Amino acid sequence: MNILILTGAGISAESGIGTFRDAGGLWEQYPIEQVATPEGFAADPELVHSFYNARRANAAVAAPNAAHKALAKLEREHAGDVLIVTQNVDDLHERGGSQNILHMHGALNRAICAACNHRWPAPAEMYANDPCPSCNAPATRPDIVWFGEIPQGMDVIEAALQNADLFVSIGTSGTVYPAAGFVQSARAMGVQTLELNMETSSGVFKESRNGPATELVPVWVSEVLAGE
Ligand code: OAD
Repeated sequence: MNILILTGAGISAESGIGTFRDAGGLWEQYPIEQVATPEGFAADPELVHSFYNARRANAAVAAPNAAHKALAKLEREHAGDVLIVTQNVDDLHERGGSQNILHMHGALNRAICAACNHRWPAPAEMYANDPCPSCNAPATRPDIVWFGEIPQGMDVIEAALQNADLFVSIGTSGTVYPAAGFVQSARAMGVQTLELNMETSSGVFKESRNGPATELVPVWVSEVLAGE
């Protein structure tokens, strides 16, 4: 059985990284168009860098929780493929021990040059005039996918969906496309679908279990491994 897992901010919530749309979430505190669009970056790059510098500092002090660790155990012990496609820009899946991870919305720990597309490990703090280590242009930006930009790895995700037997969505509200549409694609291809989330998001999943990820994910992983 090949398992494709989509994760969102809810899986990192209990590690102390705020979600976007829950009460008091990031998008209540910061206007999306100012900090998460190419237009916002063009208008005020220092504001956008300071927003992501703060996110990076927050992620650096957070630790992977029982849900991240359970998914790493699943990858180690499950006989079939396990791919995590995450919308999260933190590195808690990596630090939880998972290896097969695709960051479809980019990653806080990477920088990219808007002039030549060179990528490199992001320093703790980035500034608008930082020169690119490859072409020297002062065009450094966080390697984050903003609204209006195309998510990363869509070809890999499409192939993984076709290869999957089970699609599991964890800790995401299912409001941002194309990720929000993966469940419909999965169902159209006859792939089983399961949601593990604090609340039922779309009603499109064959099964939806509600509760905190640190409780639901280890239980589900134990069930999968016990069935093998
Ligand atoms: P959201 O903030 O939209 O949704 C978080 C979901 O997690 C909600 O459905 C919550 O009910 C659920 N949740 C909260 N705490 C939880 C917990 N402890 N255990 C389980 N579930 C919990 O975050 P995302 O769906 O990840 O994109 O947002 C998707 C994208 O929108 C993000 O990647 C980001 C944002 O704008 C970009 O910035 C491009």
